[in-house]
Amino acid sequence: MKIIRAKDYNDMSRKAANIISAQVIMKPNCVLGLATGSTPIGTYAQLVEWYKKGDLDFSEVTTVNLDEYKGLTRDNEQSYYYFMKENLFSKVNINLERTFLPDGMEPDSDKACEDYNRVIAHVGGVDLQLLGLGHNGHIGFNEPGMAFEAETHCVNLTESTMKANQRFFPTMDDVPKQAYTMGIKTIMQAKRILVVVSGEDKAAIVKEAFFGPITPKVQASVLQLHNDVTIVADAAALSLI
Ligand code: GLP
Repeated sequence: MKIIRAKDYNDMSRKAANIISAQVIMKPNCVLGLATGSTPIGTYAQLVEWYKKGDLDFSEVTTVNLDEYKGLTRDNEQSYYYFMKENLFSKVNINLERTFLPDGMEPDSDKACEDYNRVIAHVGGVDLQLLGLGHNGHIGFNEPGMAFEAETHCVNLTESTMKANQRFFPTMDDVPKQAYTMGIKTIMQAKRILVVVSGEDKAAIVKEAFFGPITPKVQASVLQLHNDVTIVADAAALSLI
């Protein structure tokens, strides 16, 4: 596990974007595993900037996102599909037919999850998986206690995750209660993993997840067992280690 110390959020975003662009340059037809949340927004903005300068080409890249809310349409501003379109897909020359997310509008959870597992297998697995870190240690939407063996599954979001997400919705009742997410097993099968973390409010979970015991109570702790993980974190997020 390699930890790259960044000065602040912008520095973290540039360093993470550098790692992703190196992947795209080295393997133009790579499969990127992508994440949502506020942390990677700066990383995507940096990639877009380098694309506009002509330094990056996404035309052969395939992407598979970690997760999607169950029940939100793609044009709902809070869906992860919308997020990805806004922050990356509509701003670079990626082929939209090669961008995949779980289908939030598939009401049959088993079908949605099986279909997504098939998509990931069909694209040949993930070369580089980008991850954010939830305050309770979740990655994707893998909430505390979930078995490490899980592949894509439907989760009931915890109170704390729904509260953290509330800021994006008009009322608490509008916050989706379920989501489809890649499981820990799926995430651990990625060849390389890149975690981005920023802010003092993540310092305690950074310490617990990456320097504490490996336990399903802290889902991100399993990353200690992966042989190619890079964490790019700013000084605030690293302030307790
Ligand atoms: C959501 C997403 C996660 C993300 C997490 C942290 O729950 N499903 O993939 O990592 O939020 O978000 P943020 O980066 O906004 O702290």
